[in-house]
Amino acid sequence: MTDEPARSGFAGAPPDATTGTRDATSLRAPAGPFSQADRDALWRAIMGRRDVRNEFTARPVPDDVLARILTAAHCAPSVGLSQPWNFVVVRDEAKRREVHELFSHANAEAAGMFDGQRQALYRSLKLEGILTAPLGVCVTCDRTRGGRVVLGRTHQPDVDLYSVACAIQNLWLAARAEGLGVGWVSIFDTEELKPLLGVPEHIVIMAWLCIGYVDELFTSPELEARRWARRLPLEDLVFDGVWGEPAGDLAPALRAAAPDQGQAKG
Ligand SMILES: Cc1cc2nc3c(=O)[nH]c(=O)nc-3n(C[C@H](O)[C@H](O)[C@H](O)COP(=O)(O)O)c2cc1C
Repeated sequence: MTDEPARSGFAGAPPDATTGTRDATSLRAPAGPFSQADRDALWRAIMGRRDVRNEFTARPVPDDVLARILTAAHCAPSVGLSQPWNFVVVRDEAKRREVHELFSHANAEAAGMFDGQRQALYRSLKLEGILTAPLGVCVTCDRTRGGRVVLGRTHQPDVDLYSVACAIQNLWLAARAEGLGVGWVSIFDTEELKPLLGVPEHIVIMAWLCIGYVDELFTSPELEARRWARRLPLEDLVFDGVWGEPAGDLAPALRAAAPDQGQAKG
């Protein structure tokens, strides 16, 4: 077995003539735990990933690096292997200015939805890096991909959207490993964003991602540092067997595994 068995196995295994499937046994690879160093690296990406608004540097993102993080996105799970995503890569500054105008309009509306001190705090937050990040990627979901009936979507029609969210998370983690920051901007009227990017009517815009190199990142969510919200204790969110039943025996382990500032560093 090689380090890349899935890829080489797939290439070498011809489809079965009668069923159209490949010999499944030749497509498997050992699946034991990673080495401690590899686990540490994965954990570091998970804990050190942040939503970035302010920390982007102007350093351009090379095509090969962009290709790697898009490949990470494209390797995400998707319902029925439908891969309903597309990625519109926007480097052009004039276009990003237009996108930023849409954000500014929506953000002013959003501020008005909060009251009193909360509104003042909201207005003090910077919630995007559309112009400071050298690159924007609009991630979309094609809800028609895979045809009229998609395996796994028969009873939960929205799982195509969840698939695209998985792709975005893959990209986000891969970006962290590359030294890139990613900021997800959702404060838009996406119907106004569509014509700017030529996105067809039937396509759903899932995210505008600001992407660029970062020298520093917050060690915990910036919204926590700015006292907008706090990470909830995991043990309050895990139930034992039925909804509402506290995690009980699992609680000490959940507390022990909770992220701390040190884990997020790097
Ligand atoms: C679906 C989604 C939409 C988001 N939209 C925005 C946004 O419009 N502006 C923003 O500043 N952050 C946005 N975020 C980032 C969250 O605020 C951030 O993930 C959260 O505060 C936790 O911080 P962390 O990602 O650094 O751990 C979004 C995140 C998700 C998952």
